[in-house]
Amino acid sequence: MRILAICGSLQKSSGNRALLDEAARRVPGGVTVERYEGLAELPHFDPDLEANGTPPTVAGLRRALAASDAVLIACPEYGHSLPGALKNAIDWVIGSGELERKLVAITASVPHSERGRRGLGALRQALAAVSAQVAFDEPIVRGEGQASDLDRVFAALVAAASAAQSE
Ligand SMILES: Cc1cc2nc3c(=O)[nH]c(=O)nc-3n(C[C@H](O)[C@H](O)[C@H](O)COP(=O)(O)O)c2cc1C
Repeated sequence: MRILAICGSLQKSSGNRALLDEAARRVPGGVTVERYEGLAELPHFDPDLEANGTPPTVAGLRRALAASDAVLIACPEYGHSLPGALKNAIDWVIGSGELERKLVAITASVPHSERGRRGLGALRQALAAVSAQVAFDEPIVRGEGQASDLDRVFAALVAAASAAQSE
């Protein structure tokens, strides 16, 4: 199972990036995790930009999504919503279909469990536009319990993938 990991934060000292780093160290057998690092290079979504061909950065995003079996997104909440850069990336693939019915896990690295939930709710809404199958959608509190929470993320993705296979 190939998982594409996307950090919704662009800042270097990102808690969500650190969470995905730890996820990469806890990957179970039979699973690979690849990082998508192109969020900051995507142009603002504008269908007119495709008139003379797909921008290379957008094509890269679409290729990375198409090559994955599932997506793991860790993102902060900004202004009670999801980060604009992440929404922009999703907008670029709504028409092209690479996220359509995709298996997805979403989380937010947070200092305590009530933080980040509105951001995840907004992300869930955006993903509903492409009928993504959301297998995990909880914030993960930084600290000791984070490792076992990441194990739950992988378990949820693997279980959902095998359930889909046996359908
Ligand atoms: C401009 C700005 C707006 C924010 N808005 C919210 C918010 O609405 N709700 C919230 O819980 N946290 C909010 N935060 C806190 C961020 O979600 C938090 O700092 C997060 O850890 C940043 O993610 P990162 O460490 O991965 O970069 C905001 C932070 C900034 C800088």
